[in-house]
Amino acid sequence: MAASGSSGDSGRPDSDRAAWFRGAGASCSIRPEARERSYRLVLLGPPGVGKGTQAELLCEALGTCHLSTGDLFRAAGCDPNPTPALAAALEAMRRGELVSDEMVIDLVRERSGCLRCRGGFLLDGFPRTVAQAEALDKLLQERGESLDAAIAYELPTEQIVERLGGRRTCSGCKAVYHVVSRPSRVPGVCDQCGGPLMERDDDRPEAIRVRLAAYESTTRPVLEYYARDGRLKSVAADGPPEQILDRTLRGLGVAQGETP
Ligand code: AP5
Repeated sequence: MAASGSSGDSGRPDSDRAAWFRGAGASCSIRPEARERSYRLVLLGPPGVGKGTQAELLCEALGTCHLSTGDLFRAAGCDPNPTPALAAALEAMRRGELVSDEMVIDLVRERSGCLRCRGGFLLDGFPRTVAQAEALDKLLQERGESLDAAIAYELPTEQIVERLGGRRTCSGCKAVYHVVSRPSRVPGVCDQCGGPLMERDDDRPEAIRVRLAAYESTTRPVLEYYARDGRLKSVAADGPPEQILDRTLRGLGVAQGETP
């Protein structure tokens, strides 16, 4: 997903997400603009359903910062000397497995300043287990905050596999493309920053199968966790991205053109 801040004149609020990527007290050099209403949201749904794509559009519409744990791990993967714990996490991810709850919760706790960002937040990839969902509620409560909604995208498996098979991601700004449904203007080159487009390691067919199975067994219960107290909003993820965005905003009670 494109780092906010690279959006220039797109009308999107600017943030370089430095606090999210670097953690440990780092602050963003470009801050999201203050709006009347800020949203604190979680995006849920199987791998490849389009969470990252929607996050980019929602950030623009709501002035919210995109906080993706997957992007965080992939950025850490460029570290030439990862700690043993991080190396083990990256290897689990390459196989398509989930990283341990402890490690992910620690990473988010280190970045909990982002949960109080005045632009709000759009968590993507976290929480992925009920233990992580409980930890997030606790972190928010400690900071006097609460979640507005958990948005769950749904799509049949065959369409998911099609989306993942054609995905290309910019190795620089993390913008997401699809060779058929969302191609870059120049094949293999990012429209936004000119960086090279890559296939993800975990988009191999064997890793996709593991990821989909992990989603059903471990993340599906998170939807039930949020449904219990009415925070879950289910959204059909078929059709073009703009149509899905429209459904999402309606689910949140935000009419297009009236974004905060
Ligand atoms: P992460 O990066 O979060 O991967 P994911 O959840 O599997 O989701 P993806 O990024 O694969 O898909 P997406 O839903 O964002 O789809 P996208 O928008 O790209 O996590 C990766 C790994 O990190 C995990 O497997 C795990 O190992 C580890 N990890 C991360 N967080 C963790 C946690 N909390 N706990 C434990 N482990 C954790 O879209 C896919 C493609 O479809 C793109 O090509 C796009 O262009 C295309 N597309 C999107 N929308 C449409 C549309 N409407 N029509 C046609 N094509 C579309």
